[in-house]
Amino acid sequence: MRCLKGRGHNGSAFLDKVRREPLRFCFFTSKSRGSSAKRLQKLALVARLPPDNRNDPDGPKRRAMEDELRDPKYFLEYLLPRPLRVGFFGASAASCLIATALTAVRLLQSPALELADGTGPRDLIVNIIGLITFASLFVYDQRQAQTRIEERRKVREAQIMVGDREVFVNEKGEKMSRLKEVNDDWIIRRLERWGQRDGMPFVGPAKGAILQQLVADKGPQLVVEVGTMAGYSALLMAQVLPSGGRVVSFEKDLTWFLVAKRFMWQASQGEKNAGLETRVGDRVKLEWGDAREALPRVLRPGRDRIELLFLDGTPKEYLDYLKAAEPFLEPGALVVADNAGVFAAGGLRPYLEYVRSSPHYRSELVSCKLEWREDVVDGIEVSTYMGPGPASVIAMISEEAAAVEAEERGVLGTAAE
Ligand SMILES: C[S@@+](CC[C@H](N)C(=O)[O-])C[C@H]1O[C@@H](n2cnc3c(N)ncnc32)[C@H](O)[C@@H]1O
Repeated sequence: MRCLKGRGHNGSAFLDKVRREPLRFCFFTSKSRGSSAKRLQKLALVARLPPDNRNDPDGPKRRAMEDELRDPKYFLEYLLPRPLRVGFFGASAASCLIATALTAVRLLQSPALELADGTGPRDLIVNIIGLITFASLFVYDQRQAQTRIEERRKVREAQIMVGDREVFVNEKGEKMSRLKEVNDDWIIRRLERWGQRDGMPFVGPAKGAILQQLVADKGPQLVVEVGTMAGYSALLMAQVLPSGGRVVSFEKDLTWFLVAKRFMWQASQGEKNAGLETRVGDRVKLEWGDAREALPRVLRPGRDRIELLFLDGTPKEYLDYLKAAEPFLEPGALVVADNAGVFAAGGLRPYLEYVRSSPHYRSELVSCKLEWREDVVDGIEVSTYMGPGPASVIAMISEEAAAVEAEERGVLGTAAE
């Protein structure tokens, strides 16, 4: 995870970076004081807001603020907002022009008098310098506005390309574009872009599709996840939960926990979610803490029965997570472990040995590619919990189930032929 630091009283470069980053958190130190700090805080707040919604009555105001934020090339932009700046430079240039003309007339009317006490030429020079300065600032500001328009156009094009903006034709027949609403799909797209760009260890779209399929087929009321990070996999699972289903996700890192909280909130926005019984982000309950001790503390025996457990924390701790979750596993529950290919011979070895040899589990490796890498083979270990009870009984049930499954496969194979 990257941390951006901003120093100096205008912090323009910092805010510019903050705007471009997928995570928009700002921490102001006690050194940030006074009105400029207040303005920075206001701007940072704007930077943290979700993009404009076409129904947003504050849209133009926010766009103006974002505009200031997008292109803070010089400190004056923070001191004077653009309309004030243009008015100030324009009015100052105009008054300097009038003063120059009046002084010139005065000099021409009585040159001897004016030259004798020296005020005429001095006033003329001061007014000409003022005129040149303010006129230059005025022209410079106008040019900057053009640059900004161009930059905004580029941003719009990029948003259309990544699917965050849609093109439509208005009632006058003009081609327009507007930002799509922020909802769970929007957040997932955004996290995928981030993951792809910075190689983040989110499960990614390919493994994510397998995970969603497992959740959709199982239809669990309670999914427990170890390792939330930004909440990508939690959101994918939440999208396909049956009615009343929930995901309880554990994250030990406080920063990631807070980041995921914000994404869950954003994922619950939009008209799409308003029509749902439970908004997608609201189906995810985030828990902060090391899952090995937090899981038995948060879940209640008897009340919480895990039907799908997704393990995606620290590989060498997987067995500990499973042991902590075992008392809550519903017989028939699926235990899904990520990175069972890349860490098979390393940190995940004790876990894989356990689920593959225990009579309480029937386990198989689903082969797939590592997130964002077409050239690295990874896998997801999918284990079915057969229930507690004496090992011999479990082994018998397990063998019977395997035989039925093999028979079914045979029947299906014959039918297909
Ligand atoms: C691979 S990332 C999870 C990615 C996420 N599941 C996704 O696909 O979007 C692993 C995360 O697990 C967290 N983690 C590691 N050990 C943990 C533990 N013992 N308890 C809770 N979280 C843990 C890390 O802080 C990290 O954010």
